Amino acid sequence: MLQLERVSLSYGSFRALDNINLHAGAGELVVLLGANGAGKSSIFLALSGIHRTSGGSMRFDGRELGGMKPSQIVQAGLVHCPEGRKLFPAMSVEKNLVLGAYVHRGDRAGSQRTLEELYQMFPILREKRHQAAGSLSGGQQQMVALGRALMGRPRALLLDEPSLGLAPLVVKQMFEVIQRINRAGTTVLLAEQNAYAALGIAHRAYVIEGGRIVMEGDRDTLLKDEGIRKAYIGG
Ligand SMILES: Nc1ncnc2c1ncn2[C@@H]1O[C@H](COP(=O)(O)OP(=O)(O)O)[C@@H](O)[C@H]1O
Ligand SMILES: [Mg+2]
Repeated sequence: MLQLERVSLSYGSFRALDNINLHAGAGELVVLLGANGAGKSSIFLALSGIHRTSGGSMRFDGRELGGMKPSQIVQAGLVHCPEGRKLFPAMSVEKNLVLGAYVHRGDRAGSQRTLEELYQMFPILREKRHQAAGSLSGGQQQMVALGRALMGRPRALLLDEPSLGLAPLVVKQMFEVIQRINRAGTTVLLAEQNAYAALGIAHRAYVIEGGRIVMEGDRDTLLKDEGIRKAYIGG
């Protein structure tokens, strides 16, 4: 469904991604593990059309994404939930959510249905829908960011460090929600530093270091791997 071949990306003369090969099949939950600065977000920024790649190909359902505008990529069904949430804190929860449906503005009834589904999935968002997004707890704000992405009606979702800065119990709930979304049929590419929790819900994972994929495998293989345990799990 999603396929990257020899993708490179540079910031000026700095090569942040070097020949990245990666794929995610329909319905898969694939995790990207890597330390701060490894290149995880750069992969998502390339896929979502925010940064131009300097080489390689990125295909989504056979369509080449290179050269497409961010809005066209969302319209094609690939939606990015950025690192750090990027909400409008002074705007209401509901207004933030509705922004995610921008590409479907010609289909208000459809967006209303999606919003209703979201509120059923996250009752707390319905309860707080008129509150400023910035007044919510960190975990609730992350739900808003995730909800805004779901308003784009993704067939594949790019989730960039959704557990960052959240308390352990909230992290657990977040990963349960992500697993639920995946089981309902959405393909998920999940970038995380929280390796243990992320591998717990993953089908497969890639390890990225210095802009290169240094390892890939299914969940059990990576969980058992000595190097992975030492570098990312701790013992
Ligand atoms: N806009 C930018 N300009 C210059 N360098 C950047 C920019 N964004 C990221 N980088 C650098 O690219 C590398 C990869 O960053 P990033 O993709 O954000 O990694 P990760 O998400 O894994 O933490 C890092 O060395 C980072 O400092
Ligand atoms: Mg990042």
